Amino acid sequence: QRQRIASVLDAGPLIPVITIEREEQALPLAEALVAGGIRVLEITLRTPQGLKAIEQLARRLPDDVLLGAGTVTDPASYRAAENAGARFVVSPGITPRLLDYGLTAHAPLLPGIATVSELMLGYEQGYLGFKFFPAAVAGGIAALQAMASPFPRVSFCPTGGIRQDTAREYLALPNVVAVGGTWLTPATLVSQGDWPGITALARESLVSCSR
Ligand code: 3PG
Repeated sequence: QRQRIASVLDAGPLIPVITIEREEQALPLAEALVAGGIRVLEITLRTPQGLKAIEQLARRLPDDVLLGAGTVTDPASYRAAENAGARFVVSPGITPRLLDYGLTAHAPLLPGIATVSELMLGYEQGYLGFKFFPAAVAGGIAALQAMASPFPRVSFCPTGGIRQDTAREYLALPNVVAVGGTWLTPATLVSQGDWPGITALARESLVSCSR
């Protein structure tokens, strides 16, 4: 599990967290992000269109683009996401059942944690990569720095409240390998179908993070 989720996060460093409202937008949106240099995409199961979008994108996107499912909260949706073609799964928090399922699942789990005790529940099962959510309100950069010394082997993908200008500060931390969020797919651009705008935003965000 640990190697497999590490390779997903290493393919980042920016992971758009995408909620599909209109099925026909999934493909042009994903392609616009990929054209802007994005290599890891998370489609949430927050709308009924989510699973269908994963199914469609799994068939259409190039193999080097890692497509995952987000907002997975129980083993049944985990299984559904895997069947739809998700290559990794993200949960906003943890439950014992989810952690168990993720250990032997085909698609590796990036479990969400907001506290040290939650981290320890995953850690004792062998998880070494976590989503830190909701990052900005759960302590942000200071919390991630504080967790580095007791857990030197753990890596994080913070999400929740991260924007283009703060992504870079998070990524500068040695225990942060990727960051995720919705800022890469603003509703204003998506609702207008402004795909070149999405590509430009992705490109700009990647450049500002690599500086
Ligand atoms: C997530 O699940 O990671 C969050 O919904 C991210 O949302 P935000 O980037 O808008 O805070």
